Amino acid sequence: MKILVMHGPSLNLLGTREPAIYGTKTLEQIDAMIVEYAGERGVEVATYQTNHEGSLIDGIHAAAEQGFAAIVVNPGAYTHTSMAIADAIRAVSIPVVEVHLSNLFARGPERAHSVTATAARGLISGFGHESYLLGIDAALRCVQTPRARTAQKPSRRGGAKKRSSALARRPRS
Ligand code: DQA
Repeated sequence: MKILVMHGPSLNLLGTREPAIYGTKTLEQIDAMIVEYAGERGVEVATYQTNHEGSLIDGIHAAAEQGFAAIVVNPGAYTHTSMAIADAIRAVSIPVVEVHLSNLFARGPERAHSVTATAARGLISGFGHESYLLGIDAALRCVQTPRARTAQKPSRRGGAKKRSSALARRPRS
């Protein structure tokens, strides 16, 4: 199985870019860790970094045709603004997992939301470079777990309601 890992703008500067927030590992080092981690799980990874919104979109569109079973993407600052990337994620059928080095929800109101994650299967945020490794695990689970099994929430909620009304009907002792 092949997974595509995509890095958005300014992530090429990891290592020297705001190390107190993003850590001291370079993108090259992080990519090597991702490839090794995935390899240990029998997964082949290709990594790609771009500073351009359109290139991220093109990469998302092309991934399935290129044989990737899932995408792990850190859209960088486009996370907070890009309806176009969100639409691209919605337009493809392979699972997309969004990851962030920092915890978006601990960084003030301007970063505490993700436009792109509204389209992704899920979001991992705040574990430094390990967010990418967790992203590989999540992508693997998405591929291995048929979507139908994760789309049963309504009936489960119904079940929960039934259980509580049954409890309510239980005679008092
Ligand atoms: C980031 C968080 C974004 O808010 C920021 O613009 C980045 C990096 C992260 O990985 O924590 O470029 O995506």
